[in-house]
Amino acid sequence: MTAPQSQGEAGAGVGVTGGRYGEDLFEPELPGEADRIDAAALVYDPVTFRRLRALGAGPGMRCLEVGAGTGTVARWLVEEADVDEVVALDRDTSALAHLEGPRLRALAADLTDEGLRPGGFDLIHARFVLMHLPTRRRLISRLAGWLNPGGRLVLGDAVDVPNVLDDSSAYRRTMDAMWRALRETIGTDISSVPAYPHFLREEGLREVAAELYCPPLVAGGPAARFWSQTWSRMRPELERAGRDHADALDEALAYLAAPELAELGPGMAMAWGTRR
Ligand SMILES: C[S@@+](CC[C@H](N)C(=O)[O-])C[C@H]1O[C@@H](n2cnc3c(N)ncnc32)[C@H](O)[C@@H]1O
Repeated sequence: MTAPQSQGEAGAGVGVTGGRYGEDLFEPELPGEADRIDAAALVYDPVTFRRLRALGAGPGMRCLEVGAGTGTVARWLVEEADVDEVVALDRDTSALAHLEGPRLRALAADLTDEGLRPGGFDLIHARFVLMHLPTRRRLISRLAGWLNPGGRLVLGDAVDVPNVLDDSSAYRRTMDAMWRALRETIGTDISSVPAYPHFLREEGLREVAAELYCPPLVAGGPAARFWSQTWSRMRPELERAGRDHADALDEALAYLAAPELAELGPGMAMAWGTRR
């Protein structure tokens, strides 16, 4: 199957300004970056685990966890799902070293490296990774190609469901400015996430399906903490995106911590399919 390029997918693997995840934004060595990733993991892990379990994650499987981050999913696959082997791939494996063992191997590698050949897998999972990589359509094709017969590819990425009646609140302006700044800085793009089921079909996978989960945004809760940490980390990019954005950002950050907070926050769409 060929991998049609989605809009804006020039194949460069970088953002409009040439930036990359982990180099020009979200550098793993920055203080608090592992906490920020863990705040999201706390929100989404139960949903991810439920789906992987329903898709049969269990003994006998060789699994690839793509962009493994702090390793919560890789660890669950070994310790709870009891799979045979997990390869936890990330450009930065510093948060994975302490998890390594006979059934969990950390692989320091760049997913966009065309020479990468990690072998065949019965389960491949990538969460909040492809959205940050401009060559995502090509990468879905390559990931599908690494599936053993009967193997499953499971993709989770962000979706936003904005309130169309609100185009002026500090919250909305900050969220919109964030997506714009992410796109311009490192090439993040969530616009094609709803198309993932189609992409999986184009790759010849069967039993394709998808679901959407938006965690409650509650002041002081993990989802609000994640957005607060993300916006704070991106303050320079957000302020560059709009000269007057500093005030809106401070107001939006205060709103995330206030009892008045009342929003349907962004969520995660998961799409999956099985190799014939
Ligand atoms: C937003 S974090 C998500 C971490 C984890 N999947 C989770 O959901 O908790 C994105 C991860 O992808 C990794 N990553 C980004 N670009 C990558 C690339 N080109 N190759 C491999 N890993 C990459 C980052 O280092 C980071 O750990």
